[in-house]
Amino acid sequence: MSSSGLTRIPIHPLEASLLRALASRSKPLDWIEFDDALSASKLSPDQLRRAVEWLKSKDLIETETRESTFYSLGEKGKEIASGGLPERKLVRLLQNFPSRNSFSMLSSKMGDEFSVALGHARKNGWIRIGKNQEITLEPDAAEKKEPEEELIEKVGSAGRILSSSLSPEERQTLDQLSKRQRGVIEAQPVKELSIRLTPKGLDTSAKLVENEIGEITPEVIKNKDWQQRHLRPIDVTSPAPSYFGGRKHPVRLFIEEVREAFLSLGFGEIRGPNAQSAFWNFDALFIPQHHSAREMQDTFYLSSSIAKISLDDKRVKSVRDSHESGKGTGSLGWGKGWQIDEARRVVLRTHTTAITIRYLADHRPDDARVFSVDKVFRNEKPNYKNNPEFYQIEGVMTAPGLNIRNLIYVMSQFYSKLGFNKVKFWPTYFPYTEPSLGPVVFWEDKQKWLELGGMGVFRPEVTAPLGIKNPVLAWGLGLDRLVMMKYGLQDIRDLYGANLSWLRKTSIL
Ligand code: PHE
Repeated sequence: MSSSGLTRIPIHPLEASLLRALASRSKPLDWIEFDDALSASKLSPDQLRRAVEWLKSKDLIETETRESTFYSLGEKGKEIASGGLPERKLVRLLQNFPSRNSFSMLSSKMGDEFSVALGHARKNGWIRIGKNQEITLEPDAAEKKEPEEELIEKVGSAGRILSSSLSPEERQTLDQLSKRQRGVIEAQPVKELSIRLTPKGLDTSAKLVENEIGEITPEVIKNKDWQQRHLRPIDVTSPAPSYFGGRKHPVRLFIEEVREAFLSLGFGEIRGPNAQSAFWNFDALFIPQHHSAREMQDTFYLSSSIAKISLDDKRVKSVRDSHESGKGTGSLGWGKGWQIDEARRVVLRTHTTAITIRYLADHRPDDARVFSVDKVFRNEKPNYKNNPEFYQIEGVMTAPGLNIRNLIYVMSQFYSKLGFNKVKFWPTYFPYTEPSLGPVVFWEDKQKWLELGGMGVFRPEVTAPLGIKNPVLAWGLGLDRLVMMKYGLQDIRDLYGANLSWLRKTSIL
């Protein structure tokens, strides 16, 4: 390998074939049509097209496309090519049967074509018509072929012919022919590509290295070929096709980020089924049985199942008591009339707080930090900020002496860890927390505050019946809205639109 090899422009064998073909013409810098370049270079159309693209990107050639037309014979044209034009048929008849030359005789022999044949033969000066309408051939007439006949032959034998390769006279003849009758000539519009060497291309063609090694194979190494032949340089900066492997969805990546944030803060992860009894989804959270959130227009009920919620379970009894009289919680409750059947209905969980409360009821911890990131379902019309199915980031902390200020601190830290710094906490209401706060984040794109869910300290009406002693700080936050803002989307539904170009662009953020 010579050191000059490194400074040479890499030229692929296909490119070399084209460069040589163009440069070896008598006027190497002239334009050449694609078809002529094909035969000159001996490349296939596909190879030539590739060579052209590559050489163009290196400024070694330039190209020009023009609208042009391909002509070929139509059905009628093919008939003429084999049987002749009508006037030619007339001439043949007269040559073969000179005596049968009356109008009526010829017209019965030729049918429809007779009048056309007559008109053209006359115009060409091939025939004379006598007084009694007898037709005679002019001497020497029709010896020569008409231009129309020649053109039909030419197009017929070429199969198809580009308008640019016809002379002006031929083009005029073609025009006449097409006007004669439909189906003689067919026209097909095409884009015609012409190619021209640039001076740099001409220069490069003079320096082409013969017989380069394009690929280092075991043979090349064994035979020590590389000692005699040049290696073809490789341009590592030239664009290559992009490959899009499988990758995680932006929502999935964000979920992992959130999990990582909680895990690194020492939280444990909890999970639970999508379908829940109304008991765990609503009752255990002190949501009254006539609360609007429990209605069909807000909640999906599974009509086919009934949950095994029974008053034999001490917790169910305590929850009932808490609802009816606030027993042992310092509250008056919602009053009599709590129905176990209502608690047995099965819902698609409307919040992950169902998982949280179940965890607390099962473990009754004095000290715990747990979270979950999971789907919830609400019977809502989709719009730019709501989907009937979305993810919640849920969690609780319980330990002696915790209060709402600890919660505000943890939540602020959490949001800023995810890159959201403009967060406020507005007072709000949930049946199960007191005080209750609603975090809002400033949505820069829309210049407005967007609600992100809720948080608060669980009420004694919730914790006491389940035997939980210490204060419980709880939160349930929308995840999808955060992802939407993070990626600058204007509509939450776009997250799930399976828009491939967006997915390819964004999932590596
Ligand atoms: N469950 C509430 C919701 O879905 C959020 C919340 C969770 C509020 C925990 C307070 C405590 O909007």
